[in-house]
Amino acid sequence: MSQYIVETKQANVSNLKREDLLNAMLYRHACKKFDPTKIIGHEDWSAILEAARLTPTSLGFEPFKLLVIQNKEIRQRMAEFGWGIQAGLEASHFVAILARKKQEIQFDSPYIRHMVDEVKQLPEDIQDLYKGFYKRFTEEDYKTFESERAAFDWTSKQAYIVLGNMLTMAAYEGIDSCPLEGFHQDNMTALLGDELGLFDTKEFGIAVMAAFGYRAEEPRRPKTRRTMDEIVEII
Ligand SMILES: Cc1cc2nc3c(=O)[nH]c(=O)nc-3n(C[C@H](O)[C@H](O)[C@H](O)COP(=O)(O)O)c2cc1C
Repeated sequence: MSQYIVETKQANVSNLKREDLLNAMLYRHACKKFDPTKIIGHEDWSAILEAARLTPTSLGFEPFKLLVIQNKEIRQRMAEFGWGIQAGLEASHFVAILARKKQEIQFDSPYIRHMVDEVKQLPEDIQDLYKGFYKRFTEEDYKTFESERAAFDWTSKQAYIVLGNMLTMAAYEGIDSCPLEGFHQDNMTALLGDELGLFDTKEFGIAVMAAFGYRAEEPRRPKTRRTMDEIVEII
């Protein structure tokens, strides 16, 4: 079987309890102080990565990559460019979620060809259909190729779905986390990409980051959210 085909036969949702997932979501909070001595176990971490891998993406093009930064020296360097990420840098695991840039998501780019030919293994006729949809979608519907920024914002949106799934899976395992946008994108990209060579800055930008580990203290403030009436309108 192709390495790209995900085995789904064992998936059975009939015995799952909705309370379990809701409890995990209530447990999740933006952790402000991680215990640096508590390390996430291999199986728990693997499940968080699997949640990322199984994330749906527009047209199934998976335009993201996870950079898991465990190197302490690199984390120290990163602190300079992130007012909001300092606490997260202490956590067991730290991830930069990269999103692909415009050149990467053109239909005839090597990356999209890899997705279409090898990963999705689309037959020729379906590929033609895809190409037509993609052209319309990117040029007329969402105008994702209008600018470098529009393209990166579009791939970053996919990266944020990845982020959400990782946070939820972590909470389901009793693991704390914090999504992180509190950093200077250009300076961080210059450090991780240009200086340290951890990714090619022509191909990727940093969409968002996240820290995973275990809380060193309980949340300082109660969780607040708008009421359902404020959020939902049924027409
Ligand atoms: C995309 C995103 C970026 C965030 N960036 C930061 C950050 O840089 N630093 C931080 O301490 N919290 C950050 N947060 C946490 C939010 O402030 C927090 O999720 C929000 O206040 C709701 O609180 P709760 O997650 O505890 O329910 C971020 C959250 C999201 C979703």
